[in-house]
Amino acid sequence: MFLLTIITKIFHSLPEEIAHNLALSGLKFVYSTGLLKILLGKEIKKNQWQNKSSDKWIYKNKLGIAAGLDKDGEYIDCLAALGVGFIEVGTVTPLEQPGNPKPRLFRNRADKSLLNRLGFNNKGVEALVKNLKKRKSTIPIGVSIGKNFDTPNEEAYRDYLFCLEKVYEYSSYIAINISSPNTKDLRELSNNKFLGNLLRIIKDKQNELSESFEYVPIFIKVSPDEELEALEEICKSILDHKIDGIIACNTTIIHNNKNGYGGLSGSPLRYKSNEKLSFIKKIVGDKTSIIASGGVMSSSDYIEKIDAGADLVQIYTGFIFEGPKLIQDILIADSS
Ligand SMILES: Cc1cc2nc3c(=O)[nH]c(=O)nc-3n(C[C@H](O)[C@H](O)[C@H](O)COP(=O)(O)O)c2cc1C
Repeated sequence: MFLLTIITKIFHSLPEEIAHNLALSGLKFVYSTGLLKILLGKEIKKNQWQNKSSDKWIYKNKLGIAAGLDKDGEYIDCLAALGVGFIEVGTVTPLEQPGNPKPRLFRNRADKSLLNRLGFNNKGVEALVKNLKKRKSTIPIGVSIGKNFDTPNEEAYRDYLFCLEKVYEYSSYIAINISSPNTKDLRELSNNKFLGNLLRIIKDKQNELSESFEYVPIFIKVSPDEELEALEEICKSILDHKIDGIIACNTTIIHNNKNGYGGLSGSPLRYKSNEKLSFIKKIVGDKTSIIASGGVMSSSDYIEKIDAGADLVQIYTGFIFEGPKLIQDILIADSS
């Protein structure tokens, strides 16, 4: 584990997107050679999972990897080997797209944050499905779906339905991403004008698909930048449409980062995302499940989310800064 932590720090001397891709390819390599087990150094906690009850979705190992780290599902087996209980892959769109121009990912060591404006760079939903079929790991895989950058919001439901149908049979849950700040106007899909209709169409499709396949829960990922009044409306709509869960939250656009526009994640997001998590919990109670995301940089940050009512917790930026040790620290803290 010590060596893995050193390697993580070395990657921090490289440009962000290069470091990201190299780190994941390196992880895949050491996993395929069997070296990863040796580097991890000790037996990792077993990945067990279960449905707690028919209307509440929970895994025994509540720690997951958030969307965006493995956009195309290329690293499922090696990430699973690190001990997480579930992985959310994506966000994928119907068609492959390159995302925004580079540079578009920035690391700030001082406040342990990332700024990204990737813009759903991904190889398209068909490529993801191929990888889902190939995976060996049996841990739950959530799939985050979105719309292509040039699909107008009025037509966005078609992109979500297209992806939903493609991934349904291979997913443990499906996350509807309407909160990324890096696709123009995407967040407007959370407004009254679009949300009710979108949720109704998605729910109908879920009901239809669950007649042919197992029931796959659907989660809506929300923005941390919503005003409380708007967030309450979103929660009520999610409950009205019997959506299975909420992911709170995505990255924030409220910052003064020197690198310009984009979504900020990591330490500076922790307080805001916890505030929104507690508010959501107050509104939805136990009626729907909550996956918490935002600013988990240590085991105590993880416990804070569980105490605030999260059923499951995801990490992204913390994993980039701390490496696999963060996973081990959290799993140890959670089992003690
Ligand atoms: C580089 C990067 C890419 C991301 N891509 C996605 C994405 O494609 N879909 C999504 O729902 N969230 C995406 N996110 C948001 C994360 O899933 C997570 O919700 C957010 O970063 C807050 O968690 P953290 O503070 O632990 O990083 C991305 C975040 C980062 C840093």
